Amino acid sequence: MQAGTEGGGLGRTESVRLTEEGVVILDQRLLPGEEKYLRLTSAAEVVDAIRSLAVRGAPAIGVAAAFALAHEARRLSGLGRDEFLTRLQAAASALRSARPTAVNLAWAVDRVMGRIGLAAGSDPGPREMADLAREEALAIYRENLEMDMRILSHALELIPDGARIMTHCNAGPLATAGYGTALGAIIHAHRQGRGVSVWVDETRPLLQGARLTAWELEKAGVPYRVITDNMAGYLMSRGEVDLVVVGADRIAANGDVANKIGTYSLAVLARHHGVPFYVAAPRSTLDLTLPSGEHIVIEERDEEEVLAVLGRRVTPAGARARNPAFDVTPARLVSAIVTDGGVLYPPLDRALARLAGAGPASPGDGMGGGAGRGERNGTGGGGRV
Ligand code: MRU
Repeated sequence: MQAGTEGGGLGRTESVRLTEEGVVILDQRLLPGEEKYLRLTSAAEVVDAIRSLAVRGAPAIGVAAAFALAHEARRLSGLGRDEFLTRLQAAASALRSARPTAVNLAWAVDRVMGRIGLAAGSDPGPREMADLAREEALAIYRENLEMDMRILSHALELIPDGARIMTHCNAGPLATAGYGTALGAIIHAHRQGRGVSVWVDETRPLLQGARLTAWELEKAGVPYRVITDNMAGYLMSRGEVDLVVVGADRIAANGDVANKIGTYSLAVLARHHGVPFYVAAPRSTLDLTLPSGEHIVIEERDEEEVLAVLGRRVTPAGARARNPAFDVTPARLVSAIVTDGGVLYPPLDRALARLAGAGPASPGDGMGGGAGRGERNGTGGGGRV
């Protein structure tokens, strides 16, 4: 991977950008120690960056893949039509399968390729197809920002004044290439003067909570404390947690939620202690083709990530590990899902079907409200769907 450093141009919270020279990403592997930008000039480099978590978070990898295809299409646009299409299709397949769990990745790749495919009947040349790919990738990016903004405002109805909020992994601006979902909502509530504070799960094995969520909260000036993952139950048992909010990588039609490993344990603890457990995700994270979470493919990563901490082995030679990167939280443990189309309350299967039937949200479409303050158990009005 070409590792040019370029801090200029990217906003503080902008983790992915499409430039004339390639896809620029903030290398999340190095945070919080170093803020280094990588300029990736081929789809293969973006595949590597996604696999190695240089860019991570479900919506952000979707945006990165869309940008990668757009740049690849331009790079290949000097070729003959057949060769161009064959090579672009190969890049699309490699990007689509770089990581299996977050549906946003396949969704974004399919959207860009679909846009080209739709135009194929009118026989466009590679250069026109490359322009279409770029247009679609930028549309995905813009829509992503809009979806985040709607999530942030809908989520306010679930966050009472002074709430002590627990979150897991990182679902902030870094993870969405936008404003964030679960963590974005927390930062937004802070800026709205809600007086919130945050328990940040460190999120082993790769410490997205300790490294990235803490970094984003520090920058935003939100009060927080980092805890190890095994402290959550203790804090809940002492009444020190008012709600949990996490992001998602894929949500099935019945409301089962795949998210970072450890999310399920938190949801079980939250239910046991009567703490509301909320999920925040854009519609690009819904996969209503899957009837339940059982069908979600869970990524298994290298054992080394568990056997070592920040690259340093902590286990004896010969130790083996398991490393499922995600788990599935059953819908019955989810108090509500905050989407860009409003807040969904149980029964989630019905709420998700209604949301899907409502079509894509557009600014000012009147869906959801986000203005009202709901009850803790989710009976509030506002953006109810
Ligand atoms: O393996 P990661 O770091 O990509 O996992 C990310 C998560 O699990 C996030 O919670 C999820 O993608 C939502 S990001 C808004």
